[in-house]
Amino acid sequence: MHVFVTGASGWIGSAVVADLLAAGHEVTGLARSEASAAAVEAKGAHVRRGDLDDLDSIRAGAEDADAVVHLANKHDFANPAVSNAAERAAVQTIGDALVGTDRPFLVASGVAGLAQGRSVTEDDASPFHGPGSPRGGSENLAFEFVDHGVRTVSLRFAPSVHGPGDHGFIAILAAIAREKGVSGYPGDGTHRWAAVHRTDAARMVTLGLGKAAAGTRLHAVAEEGVPTREIAEAIGRAFDLPVAAIPSDDVQAHFGWIGTFFALDLAATSTATQKLLGWTPSGPTLVDDLAAGAYSA
Ligand SMILES: NC(=O)c1ccc[n+]([C@@H]2O[C@H](COP(=O)([O-])OP(=O)(O)OC[C@H]3O[C@@H](n4cnc5c(N)ncnc54)[C@H](OP(=O)(O)O)[C@@H]3O)[C@@H](O)[C@H]2O)c1
Repeated sequence: MHVFVTGASGWIGSAVVADLLAAGHEVTGLARSEASAAAVEAKGAHVRRGDLDDLDSIRAGAEDADAVVHLANKHDFANPAVSNAAERAAVQTIGDALVGTDRPFLVASGVAGLAQGRSVTEDDASPFHGPGSPRGGSENLAFEFVDHGVRTVSLRFAPSVHGPGDHGFIAILAAIAREKGVSGYPGDGTHRWAAVHRTDAARMVTLGLGKAAAGTRLHAVAEEGVPTREIAEAIGRAFDLPVAAIPSDDVQAHFGWIGTFFALDLAATSTATQKLLGWTPSGPTLVDDLAAGAYSA
């Protein structure tokens, strides 16, 4: 299959491109800069220059391919309305381009806010609809295209897609710990974060491309929930820092914007995904990655 990948130069995207190519697919990656284009090309993929703000480039990429994996995101966490609007516009554009084709449209998403007080499962529909909701309600928007001849599949990544070179949430938490001289965890540290190694996440995307039916929610989750206290302790061991509970009232001041996420319970299961795809995550755990120095660079 010829697969158009947005976010092909990103943390997850670069692993997805490698996995798709290894599985025999042809890949074209969206790239918004010379550096990103060079990174995509170095993997052995074609490059389509474009930007989330240039919807024509995204439309053309979708029209020219047999399938789309949409992973690009502006990740403006300080001003999420910007990211959410771009995400919604991109999903609308790709969906419109694929109407009536029955082609796969795999859309990145997450597990935050999909269930309260328990692990999120693939049966949990997203409650987020409309432009003002998290991620711009993009999962439900993408699923609207199922009734219009698009094989939409949601890729719900664990809040930590970890491994050497990760610049996401765990890297940010490690940087805060080093800056503050203490590795903190919010409250009593019993809230949990689901986790998956990057290579396992990429494998799941490739398998989902081949096997998931329209309307499927796939969970890229290997560990159902690592307690935030254990994450903080592993960061403390990795950087030889003391570990401390951060009282709820001080979480924002200590962690900044990421405190909102670190204080959430973000556990999720992947039983249905593993069964459907025959996918068995086998990469290192989050704590193993921290112990092995994956975040030390
Ligand atoms: N990593 C996680 O733990 C995690 C967890 C849950 C959900 N997700 C979701 O999974 C997807 C991939 O995440 P990731 O961790 O791989 O993100 P990432 O490393 O930040 O990569 C983002 C990608 O989007 C591209 N991009 C950003 N702004 C763009 C723009 N204006 N136009 C075109 N491309 C643009 C980046 O291109 P450049 O290389 O040029 O910057 C990069 O390829 C995202 O939707 C993310 O929200 C990730």
